[in-house]
Amino acid sequence: MEWETSSCWASASLMAIVLLGYLSSVYGVPQNNDGLCALIVRPMGYPCTEYTVQTEDGYLLTLQRISNGRSALTGYNGPPVFLQHGLFQGGDTWFLNSVDESLGFILADHGFDVWVGNVRGTRWSRKHATLSEHDRAFWDWSWQDLAQYDLAAMLSYIKTETSSKVLYIGHSQGTIMAFAAFTIPDIVKMVEAAALLCPISYLNHISSNFVIRAVGMHLDQMLLSVGIHQLNLRSNIGVQILDSLCDGHVDCGNLLGAITGDNCCFNASRVEYYLEYEPHSTSTKNLHHLFQMIRKGTFAKYDFGWWKNLKHYHSSQPPAFNLGDIPESLPLLIGYGGSDALADLTDLKRTINELKSKPEQLYVESYGHIDFILSVKAKDDAYQDLIRFLQSRASSSSY
Ligand SMILES: *[C@@H]1O[C@H](CO)[C@@H](O)[C@H](O)[C@H]1NC(C)=O
Repeated sequence: MEWETSSCWASASLMAIVLLGYLSSVYGVPQNNDGLCALIVRPMGYPCTEYTVQTEDGYLLTLQRISNGRSALTGYNGPPVFLQHGLFQGGDTWFLNSVDESLGFILADHGFDVWVGNVRGTRWSRKHATLSEHDRAFWDWSWQDLAQYDLAAMLSYIKTETSSKVLYIGHSQGTIMAFAAFTIPDIVKMVEAAALLCPISYLNHISSNFVIRAVGMHLDQMLLSVGIHQLNLRSNIGVQILDSLCDGHVDCGNLLGAITGDNCCFNASRVEYYLEYEPHSTSTKNLHHLFQMIRKGTFAKYDFGWWKNLKHYHSSQPPAFNLGDIPESLPLLIGYGGSDALADLTDLKRTINELKSKPEQLYVESYGHIDFILSVKAKDDAYQDLIRFLQSRASSSSY
């Protein structure tokens, strides 16, 4: 009898273990050993969990969640804040400096429930329900798809999990995704407020010589015509492209500066560490879409050429995004730098004029495009104001 009971208990607990294993593989909290949590966040003493989210078009994206700072008790009490990285970057970008300098860690230490986005194609989000990253179709997207599908999937996951609207922080491509997505009522209704750092939408005043040269050489069309659909700057081809763009034409002694504008304040002795994670891949189609906008001065959907546009959009030109469709009631903070060669002030003024609301502005004269993420002084120069903005928005709702 006794034996029977214990065997029964044993098989029941075995079943429970199997069932738990099954449930966690389906609904998952995969504790990935080579994920961002394990490599960068947990070693610094922060709790970190990874979630997999599927987009409507089949991409499997990873979200990281840092629910507390180093000293707080466990539990998800703070307002959810979502961090959306830029082009050639991934969620790691918010954690690459020390814990007292990196926005991701600082937000966690301020009691926010920090969620980290990773768009398709980055090191942390390279899976799809049916496609492999080696398929051409895996790379058939541009930032409008990141807005429409990736943001929609990630924000709705966070909203469901936390039963709360989400505070949004985006940098660069993370801001053009936001501008596009916030014109879509089903997406913007999930957002409480948004802080947009180095915002881009119109791009025709870009002053980066490196980018202007790449646009002039039709680098985007060249790559597509030779069948390169994944743009990986770490690959041999990627390195050759960078070399040929620099060679004798652009001073690339400081490559990052040549691309983004002079950055005053990142930590030169950490560059090798940054390069362990960045740059991430993107699609050549995404680059092509951005270059179309630089050439045409539009903030519009991808241009397939007039014949295919008729099929996709029922008009010969791709439809423009209307910034006036972003609800006036959505609180916005815009952070920008005086030495940013990508988010140009002329383009930014046009963007702000077309918004219905009047965003709060946070201007740092000495900052280039990357300083808002990697400056060792960003906490004083920008993050304290940013956090004040988020706290005031969060406390005006349910917190
Ligand atoms: C710069 O990085 C080095 C190496 O990681 C570190 O020892 C140093 O404290 C950093 N300096 C600043 C100002 O953060």
